Amino acid sequence: MEDNQHLTSEQVMDSKEQSLEHTLRPQRLAHYLGQEKIKKELSIYIEAAKNREEALDHVLLYGPPGLGKTTMAMVIANEMGAEIRTTSGPAIEKPGDLVALLNDLEPGGILFIDEIHRMPRIAEEMLYSAMEDFYVDIIIGQGETAHPVHFPLPPFTLIGATTRAGSLSAPLRDRFGILAHMEYYTKEELEKIVLRSASVLQTDIVEDGALEIARRSRGTPRIANRLLKRVRDYAQVRGEGIVDKENAASALDLLSVDHKGLDSVDHKLLKTMITLYNGGPVGLNTLSANIGEEMMTIEDMVEPFLLKEGFIQRTSRGRMATQKAYDHFDLMHLMKK
Ligand SMILES: Nc1ncnc2c1ncn2[C@@H]1O[C@H](COP(=O)(O)OP(=O)(O)O)[C@@H](O)[C@H]1O
Ligand SMILES: [Mg+2]
Repeated sequence: MEDNQHLTSEQVMDSKEQSLEHTLRPQRLAHYLGQEKIKKELSIYIEAAKNREEALDHVLLYGPPGLGKTTMAMVIANEMGAEIRTTSGPAIEKPGDLVALLNDLEPGGILFIDEIHRMPRIAEEMLYSAMEDFYVDIIIGQGETAHPVHFPLPPFTLIGATTRAGSLSAPLRDRFGILAHMEYYTKEELEKIVLRSASVLQTDIVEDGALEIARRSRGTPRIANRLLKRVRDYAQVRGEGIVDKENAASALDLLSVDHKGLDSVDHKLLKTMITLYNGGPVGLNTLSANIGEEMMTIEDMVEPFLLKEGFIQRTSRGRMATQKAYDHFDLMHLMKK
Protein backbone atom coordinates (compact mmCIF):
# COMPACT_ATOMS: atom_id res chain seq x y z
CA MET A 1 0.00 0.00 0.00
CA GLU A 2 1.00 3.60 -0.48
CA ASP A 3 2.26 5.52 2.51
CA ASN A 4 1.09 8.98 3.44
CA GLN A 5 4.03 10.72 1.90
CA HIS A 6 2.77 9.83 -1.52
CA LEU A 7 -0.68 11.29 -1.11
CA THR A 8 -1.11 14.46 -3.10
CA SER A 9 -1.76 17.60 -1.11
CA GLU A 10 -5.35 17.51 -2.37
CA GLN A 11 -5.82 14.11 -0.78
CA VAL A 12 -4.57 15.07 2.65
CA MET A 13 -6.61 18.26 2.91
CA ASP A 14 -9.84 18.03 4.84
CA SER A 15 -13.08 18.80 3.08
CA LYS A 16 -13.39 22.34 4.43
CA GLU A 17 -10.01 23.26 3.06
CA GLN A 18 -10.88 21.48 -0.15
CA SER A 19 -13.92 23.62 -0.81
CA LEU A 20 -11.88 26.71 -0.03
CA GLU A 21 -9.25 25.42 -2.41
CA HIS A 22 -11.92 25.11 -5.04
CA THR A 23 -12.94 28.75 -4.74
CA LEU A 24 -9.31 29.86 -4.80
CA ARG A 25 -8.78 28.08 -8.11
CA PRO A 26 -9.49 30.29 -11.10
CA GLN A 27 -12.05 28.66 -13.39
CA ARG A 28 -11.34 30.36 -16.72
CA LEU A 29 -8.22 31.12 -18.72
CA ALA A 30 -8.83 34.85 -18.34
CA HIS A 31 -8.66 34.53 -14.54
CA TYR A 32 -5.64 32.27 -14.53
CA LEU A 33 -2.74 34.58 -13.68
CA GLY A 34 0.76 34.09 -15.07
CA GLN A 35 2.02 31.30 -17.38
CA GLU A 36 1.47 33.72 -20.25
CA LYS A 37 3.17 31.60 -22.90
CA ILE A 38 1.17 28.48 -22.08
CA LYS A 39 -2.09 30.42 -21.93
CA LYS A 40 -1.46 32.05 -25.29
CA GLU A 41 -0.75 28.74 -26.99
CA LEU A 42 -3.59 26.91 -25.31
CA SER A 43 -6.15 29.55 -26.18
CA ILE A 44 -5.32 29.09 -29.87
CA TYR A 45 -5.46 25.29 -29.76
CA ILE A 46 -8.69 25.37 -27.76
CA GLU A 47 -10.36 27.74 -30.17
CA ALA A 48 -9.23 25.71 -33.18
CA ALA A 49 -10.44 22.42 -31.68
CA LYS A 50 -13.79 23.98 -30.81
CA ASN A 51 -14.21 25.36 -34.32
CA ARG A 52 -13.52 21.93 -35.78
CA GLU A 53 -15.75 20.33 -33.15
CA GLU A 54 -12.96 17.95 -32.30
CA ALA A 55 -11.38 16.82 -29.07
CA LEU A 56 -8.41 18.95 -28.04
CA ASP A 57 -5.04 17.29 -28.65
CA HIS A 58 -3.53 15.57 -25.59
CA VAL A 59 -1.84 17.93 -23.13
CA LEU A 60 1.10 17.24 -20.81
CA LEU A 61 1.53 19.75 -17.97
CA TYR A 62 4.82 19.45 -16.17
CA GLY A 63 6.68 21.36 -13.49
CA PRO A 64 7.18 21.57 -9.72
CA PRO A 65 4.24 21.06 -7.33
CA GLY A 66 1.86 23.93 -6.60
CA LEU A 67 2.34 25.87 -9.85
CA GLY A 68 -1.20 25.31 -11.09
CA LYS A 69 -1.23 22.07 -13.12
CA THR A 70 -4.46 20.70 -11.67
CA THR A 71 -6.02 24.16 -11.88
CA MET A 72 -5.01 24.42 -15.54
CA ALA A 73 -6.56 21.03 -16.34
CA MET A 74 -9.89 22.23 -14.89
CA VAL A 75 -9.61 25.52 -16.76
CA ILE A 76 -9.04 23.69 -20.06
CA ALA A 77 -12.15 21.58 -19.45
CA ASN A 78 -14.19 24.71 -18.72
CA GLU A 79 -12.91 26.45 -21.83
CA MET A 80 -13.62 23.39 -24.00
CA GLY A 81 -17.02 22.98 -22.38
CA ALA A 82 -16.04 19.35 -21.88
CA GLU A 83 -16.63 16.99 -18.99
CA ILE A 84 -13.52 16.01 -17.05
CA ARG A 85 -12.78 12.85 -15.10
CA THR A 86 -9.87 12.86 -12.72
CA THR A 87 -7.60 10.06 -11.60
CA SER A 88 -3.95 9.67 -10.72
CA GLY A 89 -1.15 7.39 -11.87
CA PRO A 90 -0.94 5.33 -8.67
CA ALA A 91 -4.75 4.93 -8.54
CA ILE A 92 -4.72 3.02 -11.83
CA GLU A 93 -3.85 -0.50 -10.77
CA LYS A 94 -4.82 -2.59 -13.77
CA PRO A 95 -5.53 -1.87 -17.44
CA GLY A 96 -9.23 -2.52 -16.81
CA ASP A 97 -9.35 0.58 -14.56
CA LEU A 98 -8.17 2.67 -17.46
CA VAL A 99 -10.56 1.12 -19.99
CA ALA A 100 -13.48 1.74 -17.64
CA LEU A 101 -12.52 5.42 -17.27
CA LEU A 102 -12.04 5.96 -20.99
CA ASN A 103 -15.15 4.10 -22.01
CA ASP A 104 -17.19 6.25 -19.65
CA LEU A 105 -16.21 9.54 -21.28
CA GLU A 106 -18.57 11.28 -23.62
CA PRO A 107 -17.04 12.17 -27.03
CA GLY A 108 -14.65 15.10 -26.61
CA GLY A 109 -14.41 14.43 -22.87
CA ILE A 110 -11.22 14.85 -20.86
CA LEU A 111 -9.38 12.33 -18.75
CA PHE A 112 -7.01 14.02 -16.30
CA ILE A 113 -4.26 11.77 -14.94
CA ASP A 114 -2.32 13.43 -12.15
CA GLU A 115 1.16 12.09 -11.34
CA ILE A 116 1.09 10.29 -14.65
CA HIS A 117 4.71 9.21 -14.23
CA ARG A 118 3.55 6.84 -11.49
CA MET A 119 1.13 4.87 -13.67
CA PRO A 120 1.88 1.13 -13.98
CA ARG A 121 3.75 0.20 -17.13
CA ILE A 122 1.02 -2.05 -18.50
CA ALA A 123 -1.61 0.68 -18.24
CA GLU A 124 0.79 3.10 -19.84
CA GLU A 125 1.27 0.79 -22.82
CA MET A 126 -2.46 0.56 -23.25
CA LEU A 127 -2.60 4.34 -23.52
CA TYR A 128 -0.46 4.34 -26.66
CA SER A 129 -3.21 3.14 -29.00
CA ALA A 130 -5.90 4.89 -26.98
CA MET A 131 -4.19 8.24 -27.43
CA GLU A 132 -3.19 7.75 -31.02
CA ASP A 133 -6.17 5.99 -32.60
CA PHE A 134 -8.84 5.83 -29.89
CA TYR A 135 -8.93 2.07 -29.35
CA VAL A 136 -7.54 -0.48 -26.95
CA ASP A 137 -6.91 -4.17 -27.45
CA ILE A 138 -7.73 -6.14 -24.36
CA ILE A 139 -7.62 -9.83 -23.53
CA ILE A 140 -10.93 -11.28 -22.40
CA GLY A 141 -11.18 -14.61 -20.61
CA GLN A 142 -8.50 -16.89 -19.26
CA GLY A 143 -6.47 -19.87 -20.41
CA GLU A 144 -7.90 -21.65 -23.46
CA THR A 145 -10.79 -19.21 -23.90
CA ALA A 146 -8.63 -16.10 -23.69
CA HIS A 147 -8.95 -13.96 -26.79
CA PRO A 148 -8.11 -10.39 -27.75
CA VAL A 149 -10.92 -7.91 -28.22
CA HIS A 150 -10.60 -4.71 -30.20
CA PHE A 151 -12.32 -2.01 -28.21
CA PRO A 152 -13.08 1.34 -29.86
CA LEU A 153 -13.17 4.42 -27.62
CA PRO A 154 -14.83 7.81 -27.96
CA PRO A 155 -12.46 10.58 -29.11
CA PHE A 156 -11.08 12.13 -25.94
CA THR A 157 -8.35 14.38 -24.60
CA LEU A 158 -5.82 13.08 -22.14
CA ILE A 159 -4.36 15.69 -19.83
CA GLY A 160 -1.39 14.39 -17.88
CA ALA A 161 0.32 16.23 -15.04
CA THR A 162 3.74 15.39 -13.67
CA THR A 163 6.48 16.88 -11.56
CA ARG A 164 9.02 14.93 -13.57
CA ALA A 165 8.62 14.78 -17.33
CA GLY A 166 11.96 12.97 -17.43
CA SER A 167 10.41 9.90 -15.80
CA LEU A 168 7.85 9.44 -18.57
CA SER A 169 8.78 6.91 -21.21
CA ALA A 170 9.55 8.45 -24.58
CA PRO A 171 6.66 6.71 -26.40
CA LEU A 172 4.17 8.16 -23.92
CA ARG A 173 5.71 11.63 -23.95
CA ASP A 174 5.69 11.66 -27.75
CA ARG A 175 1.96 11.06 -27.89
CA PHE A 176 1.16 14.38 -26.25
CA GLY A 177 0.57 16.99 -28.94
CA ILE A 178 0.80 19.88 -26.49
CA LEU A 179 3.64 20.06 -23.99
CA ALA A 180 3.30 22.77 -21.38
CA HIS A 181 6.22 23.46 -19.08
CA MET A 182 4.94 25.36 -16.03
CA GLU A 183 7.30 28.09 -14.83
CA TYR A 184 7.80 29.59 -11.41
CA TYR A 185 5.80 32.80 -11.03
CA THR A 186 7.26 36.29 -10.74
CA LYS A 187 6.59 38.21 -7.56
CA GLU A 188 4.36 40.60 -9.48
CA GLU A 189 2.22 37.67 -10.66
CA LEU A 190 2.12 36.20 -7.17
CA GLU A 191 1.13 39.57 -5.75
CA LYS A 192 -1.91 39.56 -8.04
CA ILE A 193 -2.73 36.00 -7.02
CA VAL A 194 -2.49 36.94 -3.33
CA LEU A 195 -4.75 39.97 -3.86
CA ARG A 196 -7.28 37.81 -5.69
CA SER A 197 -7.19 35.10 -3.02
CA ALA A 198 -7.55 37.72 -0.25
CA SER A 199 -10.69 38.98 -1.90
CA VAL A 200 -12.06 35.42 -2.21
CA LEU A 201 -11.26 34.93 1.49
CA GLN A 202 -12.76 38.35 2.29
CA THR A 203 -9.55 39.46 3.94
CA ASP A 204 -8.50 43.10 4.11
CA ILE A 205 -5.08 43.51 2.59
CA VAL A 206 -2.91 46.37 1.42
CA GLU A 207 -0.62 46.08 -1.60
CA ASP A 208 2.57 46.11 0.46
CA GLY A 209 1.27 43.18 2.45
CA ALA A 210 0.49 41.19 -0.70
CA LEU A 211 3.93 41.96 -2.09
CA GLU A 212 5.65 40.81 1.10
CA ILE A 213 3.81 37.46 0.91
CA ALA A 214 4.50 37.20 -2.84
CA ARG A 215 8.20 37.78 -2.31
CA ARG A 216 8.42 34.94 0.17
CA SER A 217 6.35 32.34 -1.68
CA ARG A 218 9.09 30.47 -3.58
CA GLY A 219 7.50 31.44 -6.88
CA THR A 220 4.59 29.12 -6.09
CA PRO A 221 0.86 30.01 -5.90
CA ARG A 222 0.05 27.14 -3.53
CA ILE A 223 2.62 28.47 -1.06
CA ALA A 224 1.38 32.04 -1.57
CA ASN A 225 -2.16 30.98 -0.67
CA ARG A 226 -0.98 29.02 2.34
CA LEU A 227 1.12 31.91 3.66
CA LEU A 228 -1.76 34.30 3.09
CA LYS A 229 -3.98 32.18 5.35
CA ARG A 230 -1.37 32.14 8.10
CA VAL A 231 -0.72 35.88 7.82
CA ARG A 232 -4.47 36.47 7.93
CA ASP A 233 -4.64 34.55 11.23
CA TYR A 234 -1.76 36.58 12.58
CA ALA A 235 -3.28 39.89 11.50
CA GLN A 236 -6.56 38.92 13.10
CA VAL A 237 -5.04 38.03 16.45
CA ARG A 238 -2.13 40.48 16.69
CA GLY A 239 -3.29 43.39 14.57
CA GLU A 240 -6.40 45.09 13.32
CA GLY A 241 -7.17 42.23 10.93
CA ILE A 242 -5.60 44.02 8.01
CA VAL A 243 -2.76 42.29 6.20
CA ASP A 244 0.00 44.85 5.74
CA LYS A 245 3.74 44.68 5.27
CA GLU A 246 4.56 44.67 9.02
CA ASN A 247 2.30 41.86 10.12
CA ALA A 248 3.06 39.88 6.96
CA ALA A 249 6.76 40.12 7.78
CA SER A 250 6.26 39.22 11.45
CA ALA A 251 3.98 36.29 10.67
CA LEU A 252 6.37 34.93 8.06
CA ASP A 253 9.36 35.31 10.37
CA LEU A 254 7.40 33.29 12.88
CA LEU A 255 6.92 30.59 10.22
CA SER A 256 10.68 30.63 9.55
CA VAL A 257 10.20 31.82 6.00
CA ASP A 258 13.01 34.25 5.27
CA HIS A 259 12.98 37.35 3.06
CA LYS A 260 13.94 35.30 -0.02
CA GLY A 261 11.20 32.80 0.69
CA LEU A 262 13.57 30.08 1.85
CA ASP A 263 12.06 27.90 4.55
CA SER A 264 13.57 25.71 7.24
CA VAL A 265 14.14 22.79 4.86
CA ASP A 266 16.00 25.04 2.41
CA HIS A 267 18.07 26.35 5.29
CA LYS A 268 18.89 22.87 6.55
CA LEU A 269 19.91 21.73 3.08
CA LEU A 270 22.12 24.72 2.30
CA LYS A 271 23.73 24.87 5.73
CA THR A 272 24.46 21.14 5.62
CA MET A 273 26.21 21.59 2.29
CA ILE A 274 28.22 24.52 3.55
CA THR A 275 29.19 23.47 7.04
CA LEU A 276 29.44 19.68 6.72
CA TYR A 277 30.56 19.29 3.12
CA ASN A 278 32.55 22.40 2.47
CA GLY A 279 30.04 23.57 -0.09
CA GLY A 280 30.06 20.28 -1.99
CA PRO A 281 29.94 18.58 -4.37
CA VAL A 282 27.72 16.32 -2.32
CA GLY A 283 25.40 13.55 -3.51
CA LEU A 284 21.64 13.58 -3.23
CA ASN A 285 21.53 10.45 -1.07
CA THR A 286 24.02 11.93 1.40
CA LEU A 287 21.97 15.11 1.68
CA SER A 288 18.81 13.12 2.08
CA ALA A 289 20.25 11.11 4.96
CA ASN A 290 21.60 14.24 6.62
CA ILE A 291 18.50 16.38 6.58
CA GLY A 292 15.93 13.60 6.92
CA GLU A 293 13.98 14.32 3.74
CA GLU A 294 13.30 11.78 1.01
CA MET A 295 15.42 12.07 -2.11
CA MET A 296 12.31 12.48 -4.22
CA THR A 297 11.11 15.36 -2.05
CA ILE A 298 14.45 17.08 -2.38
CA GLU A 299 14.56 16.59 -6.14
CA ASP A 300 10.97 17.60 -6.88
CA MET A 301 10.21 20.22 -4.26
CA VAL A 302 13.35 21.66 -2.73
CA GLU A 303 16.04 21.78 -5.38
CA PRO A 304 14.25 23.25 -8.40
CA PHE A 305 13.68 26.59 -6.70
CA LEU A 306 17.18 26.71 -5.19
CA LEU A 307 18.64 25.99 -8.64
CA LYS A 308 16.50 28.59 -10.30
CA GLU A 309 17.46 31.22 -7.72
CA GLY A 310 21.12 30.29 -8.02
CA PHE A 311 21.69 29.05 -4.46
CA ILE A 312 22.95 25.69 -5.69
CA GLN A 313 24.43 24.18 -8.81
CA ARG A 314 24.21 20.63 -10.08
CA THR A 315 27.41 19.09 -11.33
CA SER A 316 28.21 15.57 -12.46
CA ARG A 317 29.72 14.91 -9.03
CA GLY A 318 26.82 16.24 -7.01
CA ARG A 319 25.26 19.44 -5.72
CA MET A 320 27.31 22.51 -4.84
CA ALA A 321 26.43 25.58 -2.79
CA THR A 322 27.06 28.81 -4.69
CA GLN A 323 28.55 32.06 -3.47
CA LYS A 324 25.00 33.38 -3.23
CA ALA A 325 24.22 30.65 -0.67
CA TYR A 326 27.29 31.53 1.46
CA ASP A 327 26.32 35.17 1.20
CA HIS A 328 22.74 34.51 2.24
CA PHE A 329 23.90 33.05 5.55
CA ASP A 330 26.80 35.47 6.04
CA LEU A 331 29.20 32.56 5.78
CA MET A 332 31.54 33.97 3.13
CA HIS A 333 34.52 33.31 5.43
CA LEU A 334 33.88 29.54 5.06
CA MET A 335 34.07 29.63 1.30
CA LYS A 336 36.83 27.54 -0.28
CA LYS A 337 39.52 29.61 -1.94
N1 LIG B 1 -2.30 30.83 -12.13
C1 LIG B 1 -2.90 30.80 -10.95
N2 LIG B 1 -3.67 31.82 -10.55
C2 LIG B 1 -4.26 31.79 -9.34
N3 LIG B 1 -4.15 30.78 -8.47
C3 LIG B 1 -3.41 29.74 -8.82
C4 LIG B 1 -2.76 29.68 -10.08
N4 LIG B 1 -2.09 28.54 -10.16
C5 LIG B 1 -2.30 27.88 -9.01
N5 LIG B 1 -3.10 28.60 -8.20
C6 LIG B 1 -3.50 28.21 -6.84
O1 LIG B 1 -2.47 27.41 -6.30
C7 LIG B 1 -2.98 26.23 -5.74
C8 LIG B 1 -2.21 25.04 -6.26
O2 LIG B 1 -2.48 24.86 -7.63
P1 LIG B 1 -2.58 23.39 -8.27
O3 LIG B 1 -3.26 23.55 -9.57
O4 LIG B 1 -3.19 22.45 -7.30
O5 LIG B 1 -1.04 23.06 -8.48
P2 LIG B 1 -0.34 21.71 -9.00
O6 LIG B 1 -1.43 20.83 -9.53
O7 LIG B 1 0.63 22.15 -10.04
O8 LIG B 1 0.37 21.13 -7.82
C9 LIG B 1 -4.47 26.20 -6.07
O9 LIG B 1 -5.17 26.33 -4.88
C10 LIG B 1 -4.76 27.40 -6.89
O10 LIG B 1 -5.76 28.13 -6.24
MG1 LIG C 1 -2.05 18.97 -8.72
